[in-house]
Amino acid sequence: MIRFLSCLGLITITAHCIWADDSLRARNDAIIVRALERMDNYDYSQDAHVQQAISRHLGRHEGTAEYVALARRFRPADMQEKLTALIFSDVGDSIKVDAAGLLGDAENGPQTIRQLLKSESQDQAAETARVLALLGNGRAISILGDVARDGERPYQVRRHAVAGLARNRNGEKVLIQLAESKELTADTRLLAGGLLARSGDKNIRELAGKLLPQPQQKNRQPLEPIDKLAQRRGDAAAGMQLFRGTATCANCHIVDGFGKEVGPNLSEIGGKLSREAMLTSILDPSAGISHNYENYVVLTDAGQVIVGLKMSETPNEILIRTAEAVDHKIPLNEIEQIKKSEKSIMPDDLHLTFDQKGLLDIVEYMTKLKSK
Ligand code: HEC
Repeated sequence: MIRFLSCLGLITITAHCIWADDSLRARNDAIIVRALERMDNYDYSQDAHVQQAISRHLGRHEGTAEYVALARRFRPADMQEKLTALIFSDVGDSIKVDAAGLLGDAENGPQTIRQLLKSESQDQAAETARVLALLGNGRAISILGDVARDGERPYQVRRHAVAGLARNRNGEKVLIQLAESKELTADTRLLAGGLLARSGDKNIRELAGKLLPQPQQKNRQPLEPIDKLAQRRGDAAAGMQLFRGTATCANCHIVDGFGKEVGPNLSEIGGKLSREAMLTSILDPSAGISHNYENYVVLTDAGQVIVGLKMSETPNEILIRTAEAVDHKIPLNEIEQIKKSEKSIMPDDLHLTFDQKGLLDIVEYMTKLKSK
């Protein structure tokens, strides 16, 4: 009681003084804040001077670990905005994680976080996912689970959600469940499987092996997981040779005028896809078939099966382009059956035509393909 009264006295006296000198005022504000921190029940909500002292003190600590601790205690009105700024600043991860934790606890905080994950800036959305992954509490895991199954989000954002889930015992289970229910977006299957294959939990490793199998090399050795491969570098010149030669990529992709046009032109792919996404495109092509490249299987009256991309369609005929870049015009009245295939026209065993080094070389080559 005595301490309470003396603090109260101190606050009242110091808060009402007019300080000519800024550093003195700062010190005074700090004294008020420290005194308040020691008192649980003192209601300062009506005291404008105290409020201003707190607000100035918070302002002086913006962007620091101290700010988060103060905000946790005083819950300033603009806290969400400031914590968000902290998450996107270049402070260390411990502070970011602390800020994200507090943001999640705030009223409407979880909605704010979900908004950040949908932020127009892909980098900011991805950074939010990364920080949530480091936070790893129940709320973060549940939000990341939602991101991992939402195919509308950019790959960069979902991959951080997947990586974060894999870092956490409960998160691992969420990933297994998403894989089982086929809700995990297809282009992160390879990443998720590679991460879970390294789980500390044998049960998880086994389930992952069944649900999210990893590709083998041509020598039957497993490939390194793609998050690891994405950190390695290759030889771009050797990659170009493979691309144009034995790997057959140029049979379907044009780069700088060279090659055939079955799949998309890859002349600027280095500016579009991360290494990890390139690896996924090669190792699991069916995971991310874009709308323009849906593969069809056509059975004609004459019993011929033609497999390829539907390039155009008129009331009388369709144009199918095969993997060999041959166009077939097929009159509609000669079609017995036409079915959209789940599989990409891009073969899923191309990596068996080269070894792991070749894979890294091709990826290296593609990272260099940027707009000139
Ligand atoms: C038989 C044709 C074919 C071959 C051979 C082929 N691709 Fe593809 N590729 C496609 C098609 C079609 C797509 C479009 C999406 C899909 O169906 O997966 C594609 C998509 C891609 C993408 C993603 C492009 C994007 O914009 O997202 C990359 C990267 C890629 N291929 C690289 C390669 C590499 C490297 C090779 C050689 C190792 C290769 N492709 C061989 C047909 C092929």
